[in-house]
Amino acid sequence: MELYEAINSRRTVRDFEAEPIPAEVLERIIEAAFKAPTNDHMRDWHYIIVRDINVTAKLLDIIPKGISDEDMQALINDWNLSDSIQQECYRNAVPKQYRMLFDASAVIIPLLKQKTDLLHPDNISHLNGFASIWCSIENIFLCATAEGYSCNLRIPLGNEAEHARSVLGFPNDYFMPCFIGIGKPKSDIAPVKQKQIDIKQRIHWDRF
Ligand SMILES: Cc1cc2nc3c(=O)[nH]c(=O)nc-3n(C[C@H](O)[C@H](O)[C@H](O)COP(=O)(O)O)c2cc1C
Repeated sequence: MELYEAINSRRTVRDFEAEPIPAEVLERIIEAAFKAPTNDHMRDWHYIIVRDINVTAKLLDIIPKGISDEDMQALINDWNLSDSIQQECYRNAVPKQYRMLFDASAVIIPLLKQKTDLLHPDNISHLNGFASIWCSIENIFLCATAEGYSCNLRIPLGNEAEHARSVLGFPNDYFMPCFIGIGKPKSDIAPVKQKQIDIKQRIHWDRF
């Protein structure tokens, strides 16, 4: 698949077929993750690929399995989500947070070695390691698309990252930016409508 085609067809998928992904495909995708730019030239990243359903169940048992209509409405109000397309995106995504990972063929946990307090950086360069691993995460999404698979992601909330550490055994100096679910997209699910951007209004030649 050509690069622009992968970029244009990549989308977040939260509904998967029950279909395993061959290990060599996962290895190829992670190899591409390591081709991302890196701030300190070290690429001190690890990726845990969880395929054992028993480990997946333990890893995810802390994630809420759904949300009531009232709580969903309260979330939309609390977050001041006034745009109707944005509201629909959240209404689609929030109830699927558990299943989109549980039903994935694999859950990938990216890990970066974080030397400073990520939540209280002294300056913006202390966030460079975090920024770098997100470049690698985009490589994963695009290469998954090129391989005929799709991904979703969840930012760990509350104790979810510490729970993941205890289930998966990664060391204390490694930080987990997100959960990634990867699998074969269900064919009968319509894509979630996204806000259309007029590129001409967002590109500024020479000055804003
Ligand atoms: C930094 C970041 C955090 C995100 N957090 C979540 C999340 O916690 N749960 C989720 O289902 N999707 C999450 N997403 C995915 C977005 O919902 C999704 O990318 C967005 O709706 C655009 O849709 P698309 O990826 O299909 O283009 C996140 C994406 C990014 C880049």
